[in-house]
Amino acid sequence: MSFVPMSELLEKARQGGYAVGAFNTNNLEITLSIVEAAVEERSPLILAVSPGAMRYAGAAYLAAIARVASEEAPVPMALHLDHGTTLDEVETALSLGFSSVMIDGSRLPFEENAALTKKVVEMAKPLGVSVEGELGRLAGKEDDISADEREAFMTDPDQAVEFVERTGVDALAVSIGNAHGWYKGEPHLDFDRLRRIREKVPVPLVLHGASGIPDDMIREACRIGVDKINIDTEIRDAFRRAVEGFLRENPDEIDPRKILGPAREAMRKVVAGKMRLFGCAGRA
Ligand code: G3H
Ligand code: 13P
Ligand code: ZN
Repeated sequence: MSFVPMSELLEKARQGGYAVGAFNTNNLEITLSIVEAAVEERSPLILAVSPGAMRYAGAAYLAAIARVASEEAPVPMALHLDHGTTLDEVETALSLGFSSVMIDGSRLPFEENAALTKKVVEMAKPLGVSVEGELGRLAGKEDDISADEREAFMTDPDQAVEFVERTGVDALAVSIGNAHGWYKGEPHLDFDRLRRIREKVPVPLVLHGASGIPDDMIREACRIGVDKINIDTEIRDAFRRAVEGFLRENPDEIDPRKILGPAREAMRKVVAGKMRLFGCAGRA
């Protein structure tokens, strides 16, 4: 199968009451682990490539690996630019056949975010490529912010409606207390806010920073109506632990294929577990 627009996967998810997982890749091994999980779980898949991943591996290499995977895998798959921040990054993704792009203008003032996002919609829509925007800021790994500041970063439901109407995005990433990287303690997700956004906003909603969010909270987010859920950190963690464990037990091993074998297996298990949790397993 070739790449499908993300909006196609997310419309089905909305109707079916589940969320599609978006998993970040940076290389061959991570891509294979994610795709193997999708095939095994018969799950639709969003393969996410960040600008950092593009710089690390080369955007064309990652896109080529993903294309071969999508041709071989009997499940619908979108290739998605994650957290694009410039028009150049979007153009690169479009030229390589990505079927979805995120433009993250969440650090910009509302008007600038809306204008940038609208521009990306105008570039992507004629090509049949989906666009995800973001309104409200997520706390990042490096941010150390107070509870009040966190609240001020969250997505405002009325602004969200205006943002979607003015930009024409296919999906909206929201800030409801979610953060990238590991949480310090238990995450506090503002489900009331999510409900209010869900009632007002007509397009699929996206939850970033889902690593470390307890399963029951993820289920609640899906019940309320999140349609796409992003995971990166838990895959990285599985990779690192597996490599560390293998090398501890096999300190003289130098064959990268042997060193990375258990890591591939560990990442595949993480992704498969998330697909079952999000309810997208069995939907392809
Ligand atoms: O949310 C961002 C993803 O985890 C990608 O991270 O920018 O380090 O590739 P990265
Ligand atoms: P985590 O790294 O917290 O899982 O977040 C992933 C993400 O939001 C990618 O866009
Ligand atoms: Zn993210």
